[in-house]
Amino acid sequence: MLLFSLAGISPFAQPGPDRSFPVVIRGVTSVTPLPDGIDIRAGAAREKIVALRNGILRFRVSRTDTLPEDASWAVLAGARHSQAAARPITTVDFVGFATKRLRVEVDRRTMEVTVLDADGRVLQQDARPICYWGNSFRIDKVMPANEHFFGLGDKTGPLDRRNEAFTLWNTDAYRFQESTDPIYKSIPFFITYQAGAAAGVLLDNTWRSSFDFGKESRNSYSFGAENGPIDYYLMYGPSPQKVVEEYAWLTGKPPLPPLWSLGFQQSRYSYMSQSKVLAVARRLRADHIPADAIYLDIDYQEKDRPFTIDRSRFPDLAGMIAKLAAEHFHVVAIADLHIAKVPGYYPYDNGVANDDFVKNPDGSVYTGVVWPGPSVFPDFTRRQTRRWFGSLYKKLYGMGVSGFWDDMNEPSIFNSPAGTMPLDVVHRIDEPGFRSRTATHAEIHNVYGMENSRATFDGLKLLKPDQRPFVLTRATYAGGQRYAATWTGDNSSTWNHLRMTTPMLENLGLSGFAFAGADVGGFAGSPTMNLLTKWIEIGAFQPIDRDHTEKGTQPQEPWVGGPAQEAIRRRYIDTRYRLMPYIYTLADQASRTGLPMIRPLFLEFPDAAADRHPLDIDPEASSEFLLGPDLLIAPAPFSDQIDEYEVEFPSSDWYDFWTGGKVHDPAPRSAPNPVLPPDPARLVPLTTHVHPSLAGLPVYVRGGTILPMQPLVQSTGETPDGPLTLRAYAGNPGEGRPCGGSLYLDDGITEAYRHGDFLRMKFTCRFEADALQIDIGAHEGAYPAWWKSIQVKIYGWNAGQRNFRVNGNTVAAVECGRALCITIPDDGRGMEITAR
Ligand code: NOJ
Repeated sequence: MLLFSLAGISPFAQPGPDRSFPVVIRGVTSVTPLPDGIDIRAGAAREKIVALRNGILRFRVSRTDTLPEDASWAVLAGARHSQAAARPITTVDFVGFATKRLRVEVDRRTMEVTVLDADGRVLQQDARPICYWGNSFRIDKVMPANEHFFGLGDKTGPLDRRNEAFTLWNTDAYRFQESTDPIYKSIPFFITYQAGAAAGVLLDNTWRSSFDFGKESRNSYSFGAENGPIDYYLMYGPSPQKVVEEYAWLTGKPPLPPLWSLGFQQSRYSYMSQSKVLAVARRLRADHIPADAIYLDIDYQEKDRPFTIDRSRFPDLAGMIAKLAAEHFHVVAIADLHIAKVPGYYPYDNGVANDDFVKNPDGSVYTGVVWPGPSVFPDFTRRQTRRWFGSLYKKLYGMGVSGFWDDMNEPSIFNSPAGTMPLDVVHRIDEPGFRSRTATHAEIHNVYGMENSRATFDGLKLLKPDQRPFVLTRATYAGGQRYAATWTGDNSSTWNHLRMTTPMLENLGLSGFAFAGADVGGFAGSPTMNLLTKWIEIGAFQPIDRDHTEKGTQPQEPWVGGPAQEAIRRRYIDTRYRLMPYIYTLADQASRTGLPMIRPLFLEFPDAAADRHPLDIDPEASSEFLLGPDLLIAPAPFSDQIDEYEVEFPSSDWYDFWTGGKVHDPAPRSAPNPVLPPDPARLVPLTTHVHPSLAGLPVYVRGGTILPMQPLVQSTGETPDGPLTLRAYAGNPGEGRPCGGSLYLDDGITEAYRHGDFLRMKFTCRFEADALQIDIGAHEGAYPAWWKSIQVKIYGWNAGQRNFRVNGNTVAAVECGRALCITIPDDGRGMEITAR
């Protein structure tokens, strides 16, 4: 059998899917040490491995002497061109280098790479040489039995990707199910996690790619693409938080969103008229359901044409927006990317005149059918086209629309069997780093949606430079968090879809998208009233909280189903608003570090289990999630179940958020099964039992937390009336974290915070059996507080002492529920509270 091997004889004698024989990269023929890595030749082939930071490596491989273009839609140029010092290492068996944190060894014979940490622990190891079949390639890594995988955006299935395989190809997946793949986004980034040590891998390749975490092979995982460059990055933790932060360093952090976008959002496909929109807003206010945004879906447009207004349904859109603004409502409008192919329609005429649309191989403009009928498609890979598309928002943004919704941007095409553009449609790339060249849709497809959202974001920024844009996109690629928040697409109004929201949003958060939500209540079909209630309860603790449903379904607003259901739902939306100081502080943290708002347990507690497996994979913890570092939400494993269930805590000190009571382990779980001996790996410090109820959602606060809360408001635009509340929970937060918390605040809408117009406070605490100390830091930044005083509520500490000292003065505490309360004027200079 004929076998091509660039150097040496290949063991892979099987033809690939395209019937071509494999080409294997192996056999080092020469080595050039570099200041930041190593450049290796293997016959005609070449591999360059460099260190961008002491813990970040980049691998580029080519079958020829020319490396792939040093270009990326995902990775920031500054990061790509960073260098960390490398010390060459050469032995008879391997060549390589070491940074301060990593050691790279390349086997001279096989070219297999092993990456180790400074202690010599193997972090990643090739399972076999890199192999090409035609234009496609595959990279295989050794997979120990205790390795787990997270990330890849909102792919369906369990949180842990182990034993699953995925395709990355942006797809309009209406009514996707638990095993549907691919769906809307392609984020080729995953975290590998082994006994508490994590590393991240980004395969920066926009072609159709695939990831197999042990489905095909028991002992190895693999990734590859049908074409395009071998260009991948390895980020070392070892903590999973460090990996997430390194990924944000590489691909960018999500910008701080406007505060209103973290409020409750009401949408449907579609509110069909101006009067309907106003009626929904009135009802929200009349029923005292806090809300910040109302969405306009495609029917506000004339004949579904983006950037138009149907004046018969919305005779005075500007007036409607002004009326809503007076009630502190923001309007988010959809503006899809497909441009109706109708001469006389401004975006079409203008785009044709500027040559802004993608083309068929014969040079004619490509046409596909979407909502408005035959449509043409902007070539978002060109800067000029993005700038032009961004300018189309001028009228609507000028009228006061606050945010824009980029939908259908996989792109979805109705009259094509594949549901998208033909693969040979031609794009013209005009982007720093890339050669000016044409590219087929096969190469651009997975970044098309991201570049659409980039055009929107940049356009809004140009139109109102001092305002923070809000863009919601459905399709995207790695790095898309720089431009837009996202949602999980067309889910269904079923209990299993409610359950799916947790792993989908957790994995999106691990993949850069801190600001993400799932359609609350479900998009396809109508939820039962209990399902809608439970969904609103859980959605209140997720980053983007938007109730949305499809055309033709039953009404799905929070009041639907009667006052009893509405009262439960209101209580949760109220709670979200009371927690807004905490939620906004998390948003600020996400924008500075890349850490997500919704977090799996292992992200905060990698050491929780004795064997350091991620606690989230335990059946008892599988539905739990953290909102930020301090709140643990524990819905029933199956949200409609009526049986009692067990909540597994990742550390020992937790409080019930609703009652303030400390969680005491009713029956420490030494032997969950009376027949089997206890499993030491599964012993965790604390568990509790919960009886599920429609109105109840278990929420817990970590001991050693200072949780900032505010008086109830009906929107984030309303100034809270009363003191800032700091709930201080006595205890030990665990995992080496100090007792305390923080607060971030600004005007919520402009960029003034970048120039010092913010308010930041830090809180620290120390609790002993008969003494406590709480330090409330001075106000940092120029933004004024809305409160005059601070109410400190102390939970879980009661030494019989009622006289507290505040900056040396005696203040008497009173009992308030299960807490001790003191209220103190806040002059912004900080205070020290002690009791002993
Ligand atoms: C598909 C989107 O996923 C959905 O949210 C939207 O309502 C419809 N398109 C109509 O615009």
